[in-house]
Amino acid sequence: MEKTQAQILRHHGGDAKHARKMITESYQRRHDVDFWEFWNAQMGSSIAKGDVLLDLGAGIGQFVEDLALRYPENTVIGMDAAEYMLTAQVNLPENARMLKADLNEPNTNIEAGKVATVMANMLVHELPQPVNMFKAVYKWLKPGGRFCIIDLVRQPLEEYLTHKYPNAELWNNDISRAEIEDVFEHFLEHNRYHADDIIFMLKSVGFKVIENTPQRSGRFVRIVVEK
Ligand SMILES: C[S@@+](CC[C@H](N)C(=O)[O-])C[C@H]1O[C@@H](n2cnc3c(N)ncnc32)[C@H](O)[C@@H]1O
Repeated sequence: MEKTQAQILRHHGGDAKHARKMITESYQRRHDVDFWEFWNAQMGSSIAKGDVLLDLGAGIGQFVEDLALRYPENTVIGMDAAEYMLTAQVNLPENARMLKADLNEPNTNIEAGKVATVMANMLVHELPQPVNMFKAVYKWLKPGGRFCIIDLVRQPLEEYLTHKYPNAELWNNDISRAEIEDVFEHFLEHNRYHADDIIFMLKSVGFKVIENTPQRSGRFVRIVVEK
């Protein structure tokens, strides 16, 4: 757990507060009307009364709260490893809770075959390897249960830098060595997988692909698979 916590903090640039602020403030934009239409059509249809719903890498629990309010007859569980996320947790309804869990090596008391939906939003690129988590998700899901991954995927350096510096500031302004090195380090971390790599791993674990949709000019992908 300590190794994972150190690694997450390193990925978050050593600035826990900033990382928390970024995901917290972008939450509403990322979970707009279109998102919930998608959720209802692709994920909601597999949820029956009493099923468990999971959010992996749940941050401070915003999605856990939203799901718990939308599905009062289900139990919603969020998992995260970072203390600085868990201690800033939002107030959750009675049917929801957060668990401290290292998803590099999932070891929780989730009962196999009882879970209807699993979300991993902006998590996969933060893991050194997602194989153990993908195997655990397959075990936890009921037959017909669905797993959604939304994440950054591989893109050319030109597009990455143009998004980061829309007015070519990198080339025209005096930018510190530390900032440039940080941007290039994140390019590697954010460029870890092509969407096909994620699909390959999910299929290898046994999942059937339902959806594989590029998002935000191909910088992200939304994948839905079914057990
Ligand atoms: C970019 S944030 C996304 C948070 C949330 N899913 C959202 O979309 O707002 C990624 C989260 O994954 C968590 N995380 C990263 N590696 C993890 C691991 N090995 N086990 C558990 N949580 C992890 C981080 O602590 C962080 O809260």
